Amino acid sequence: MLDRYLPNASFISTAPGRVNLLGEHVDYNDGMVLPAAINRAVRLVAKLTRDRTVNLQAVDLGQSVTFSLDHLVEKQDINGNPLPSWALYPAGTAWSLYEEELDLRGFEGAFTSDIPIGAGLSSSAAVEVAFAALWQKLGGWSVDGVKLAQLCQRGENRYVGVNSGLMDQFASANGIAGNALYFDTRSLFWQPVPLPPGSVIIVADSGVRRSLANSAYNDRRASCEQALSLLRPHLPGIRALRDVSPEDFAIYADLLPEITQMRARHVVDECCRVAEAIPLLKAGDAAGFGRLMLACHASLRNLYQVSCPELDILVELAQELPGCWGARLTGAGFGGCTVNLVQENKAEEFILGLKDGYQNKTNRQAEVYLCHASQGVHVEELP
Ligand code: GLA
Repeated sequence: MLDRYLPNASFISTAPGRVNLLGEHVDYNDGMVLPAAINRAVRLVAKLTRDRTVNLQAVDLGQSVTFSLDHLVEKQDINGNPLPSWALYPAGTAWSLYEEELDLRGFEGAFTSDIPIGAGLSSSAAVEVAFAALWQKLGGWSVDGVKLAQLCQRGENRYVGVNSGLMDQFASANGIAGNALYFDTRSLFWQPVPLPPGSVIIVADSGVRRSLANSAYNDRRASCEQALSLLRPHLPGIRALRDVSPEDFAIYADLLPEITQMRARHVVDECCRVAEAIPLLKAGDAAGFGRLMLACHASLRNLYQVSCPELDILVELAQELPGCWGARLTGAGFGGCTVNLVQENKAEEFILGLKDGYQNKTNRQAEVYLCHASQGVHVEELP
C-alpha cells in the first residue's frame, strides 16, 4: 500500500505497539514490567538519498515534511518553519542517535500506522523505534534492542519533551511472538515469558482519548519523587520506590501527604504483584495471573487515580463475562484501552458480550479485538 507513496523503496521497517499486562506506572520507579508487543504496527518504507535531508510523508495524516540532519536542534523544517508535532518523534530519534555519534543517513520515506493514537498502545514509541531501526540499517551500525530503546526514550524525553519511562520503546524493540516480556527497568535484565496455554489477549478501546494526559502523567511522576525524598532519610538504602518493601512502607507511610501516600502505595504494591506474577505465568496459571490484573486495575483506579468511568465499566463488564481471567486498563490511563486475558475458546463470545454491554451502559462503541503477542521491530530489504 505504501508503494503508491514511495515507488521503488528499498527498505521497510515495522515496529509494533504494545499492551502492558502488569507493572503499570512502575517503569519510572526502577520497577519490573510485563508488556507484550502486539500485531498493530508502524510501517515505514524508505529509499536512501545522497544528501543529509529526510523527506517524510505521514500517509495517515496526509502531511509531509523535509528536515535536515545537520539542523536537528532547531526543530525546524528546511524552510525554517517549526516541525509539525508528529515530526518531532522521528526528528527527536535522529537527534538522539546523533548525540550518540551514530552514522545518520538522509532518506525519502513514507509511513503509516494502525496503532490508534492516544489509546495507550504506544503509537509514539513505535514511530521512534521504526525510525531508529531504519537508521541503524542505513548507517550499517548495530546496537542491541535495549540500547535502541534507550536511544529512542532519550529523544522522547529530551527532544519531544515527554517524560516517559523505558517500557514502551523496550517492548516495541524486543517483542517475541507468543510471549510477554519480563523487563527489569533497573538492571535491564529481560526474558520472554510465554502466555498461559489456552489464553488470548483481547484489547478493548474505550474510544476515550487521553486529555491532559501529559500533565497528569508528570504529576504522578512528581509524587513518586516526593515520596522517595521523604522516605529516604528513614530508609537510607533506597534509590527508587522499587526498593521500598511493603513492611517498611507500612512503618513510614504516614510521613507522606495523603495523595502522595496513595500513589506510592500503588507503586510498592504493584512491584510485589509483578514479582508474584512471574512464577504464576511460568506455571501457566491464567486464573492466578488474572487476579493480579484485577488487583492492579483496582489500585490504578483507587490509589493512583489514572482510570476513568469508561475504563472502569469495561473492566466491570469483562469480569462478568464467561472465560475472562483478568482485565485492567493498560498504559498510562486517563482513557484508551483495557487489556483482557481470556480463555481462547470463549474469545468470540467475550468480544461480542463486551461490545454489547459497553454500548448499553455508555452509548459509546468500543472497538474490541484479539491481539497476538508479536515480534519486535524488524527491517527488511524490499525486492
Ligand atoms: C506510558 C509511558 C511508559 C509507562 C506507562 C505507565 O505508556 O510511556 O513509560 O510509564 O505510561 O506504566
